[in-house]
Amino acid sequence: MDPASAARSGNRVLEAQSTRGLLLSTASRLASFPGGDATFFSRLGFRYGTIVETFRRLYGSVPEVEGYLERLALILLECYRDRPDRLKDSDSRREKAQAQGRAWFLEPGLTAYMAYADRFAGNLEGFRRRLPWLKELGIDIVHLMPFFRSHEGNNDGGYAVSDYLGIDPRFGDRDSLVGLADELHEKGMFLAADLVLNHSSDDHAWALAAKAGEGKYRSYYYVYPDREMPDRFESAMPQVFPETAPGNFTFVPELDAWVMTVFHDFQWDLNWSNPEVFLEMLRILLGLANMGVDLLRLDAVPYLWKKPGTSCQNLEEAHVIVRLLKACADIVAPGVAFLAEAIVQPSEIVRYLDSGGLAGEARVEECQLAYHASLMALLWEALATRKVGLLSATFGSETRLPPGTAWLSYARCHDDIGLGYDEAKIREVGFTPGPHRRFLLDFYSGRFPGSFARGRLFMENPVTGDARISGTCASLCGLESAVDGEETELALRRIELLYGLVSSLVGIPMVFSGDELASLNDYGYQSEAEHAEDNRWMHRPRMDWEAAERKAAEGTREARIFHSIRHFFSLRRGIPALAQDAGFRVLASGSENVLLVQRCPRSEDERRVAVAANFSPEERAFPLAALGPGFGQSPLDLLSGRAVTTFGGMAILPAYGLSWLAEA
Ligand code: GLC
Ligand code: GLC
Repeated sequence: MDPASAARSGNRVLEAQSTRGLLLSTASRLASFPGGDATFFSRLGFRYGTIVETFRRLYGSVPEVEGYLERLALILLECYRDRPDRLKDSDSRREKAQAQGRAWFLEPGLTAYMAYADRFAGNLEGFRRRLPWLKELGIDIVHLMPFFRSHEGNNDGGYAVSDYLGIDPRFGDRDSLVGLADELHEKGMFLAADLVLNHSSDDHAWALAAKAGEGKYRSYYYVYPDREMPDRFESAMPQVFPETAPGNFTFVPELDAWVMTVFHDFQWDLNWSNPEVFLEMLRILLGLANMGVDLLRLDAVPYLWKKPGTSCQNLEEAHVIVRLLKACADIVAPGVAFLAEAIVQPSEIVRYLDSGGLAGEARVEECQLAYHASLMALLWEALATRKVGLLSATFGSETRLPPGTAWLSYARCHDDIGLGYDEAKIREVGFTPGPHRRFLLDFYSGRFPGSFARGRLFMENPVTGDARISGTCASLCGLESAVDGEETELALRRIELLYGLVSSLVGIPMVFSGDELASLNDYGYQSEAEHAEDNRWMHRPRMDWEAAERKAAEGTREARIFHSIRHFFSLRRGIPALAQDAGFRVLASGSENVLLVQRCPRSEDERRVAVAANFSPEERAFPLAALGPGFGQSPLDLLSGRAVTTFGGMAILPAYGLSWLAEA
């Protein structure tokens, strides 16, 4: 062994010893508090090394780091003590299943639904009464948009939180949330909720205390007396809301200082380099878990750590924070999973699921799920261009996820569609990045001649020419612009194509509330003071229960789309090749309009399935031979229940047709 590695391994031994010493002294101190049991101490022992290592990495330079570690351990014990027994029982079951490689979120067939409790059903109680709707659609995971007390007036859809564990009385109270979680669990469903950890509202108690001059709370935020640091930061930081909230800092007269506000001026970025902030948020995270939340959506997670001279996104410390949070959650609530809301380049998204070990070796735990923002944006690109080149090339070269993790796949959510494509790939398939982006923006805002889409540009940045897209799935698919039966039919097929692909390409499919009824853009937001400036509200419609009744009437668009999505979901449940973590391989279809993807089940005893999708408004064909051996001359289309139409060795897909072809 050379001296350097000898020193390194010596250090490790020393570190291990001091960690063990720390663990022993922590454990003996904790033993004098009630609530700890053998399960708690064994989980603590198992994770303590990671906790100490990650905590020191973040806060090693802070004086009295051991004192913080002790406070952290006490928080874990208190939250464990407070965790209801039924959740502890479910943790044990989930832990066991996970050890056998079957975490609850990998249960084949799982689906998700994202909704605003108030816009869907008035409040949490109302939501609970509407669960049969979701059951009928075939939903398992319900993500409720933020329902905590938030900023007065504009609150960014609840993402400016004033009280992280206090439910907004408009939605109900703690009991209504716990009751909803219990009922979901009884029905075999799961609850997802947001942890808005990058920023608080400027009327959160911490911000109010800071404004009142309390130094402790001032240091919870990034506060600067003059423009020197803000200018250093700004030189490299992009802007999230350039139109309505330009810049990344806001002057706050009560503080006589500049505060970092990456999102809106009323969303103050929390300073995670302060260990007090970490401990506060840890308690909140575990508090949410103890209310019965199964999946925590880590809002805006790439933004957690800031360093001047960088984009302040995806910094290594942001990952270390998530690792530390996960190690802590695994002690108190190991059944709870994390969902990364990281709407960044694909190669960066993947790092929230698999960031490699601290020294680049073994995989370490962060999030278990992440939104597949790249697939979402690619599906819209293919729909506009009618060509599958960029989708095939990007999806085909996608990094495989590590075992135990999965994508959340979707066509629409409450946010805008960002055009985050890989520029090299755009060139590779024969487009030029700038004009291509311009085309897509023109297309989806309906400016491009002949475009079927009726969307709006979101946050147009005149300096960079960047913009994103707002609009509901149905309006972007042409249902709003359709003037006759033929155009309506094409629009409905586009919606089915997108939802059918989201259900079969990879990951857990998610429905954005309203899409199951093909809801059109809601322009009413323009006359609502707190929404008027933010056109994302056009695609966050209030649930139209009158329209919902039409799902029972044959021939209506509501019936058509509801039953199509339901069909995708129920069929998928019985097809092992379409499990969220089954493999996939992009095949060459020989047609620029036809996407061909083979799904490979985890067990070799199960049949493979080929997903074939035609992005053209005209009939297209591809050679059956492209499916490879095993699919035969007239494969069964599981979606229609009939053999696919063939002609002279070619499979024929109608306009916007989708088939799930089974291996013979
Ligand atoms: C997330 C939310 C988005 C919100 C932002 C700020 O990205 O999805 O709606 O504007 O965070 O919290
Ligand atoms: C940016 C952020 C994302 C957020 C969105 C809101 O894209 O990266 O987190 O959802 O803005 O529009």
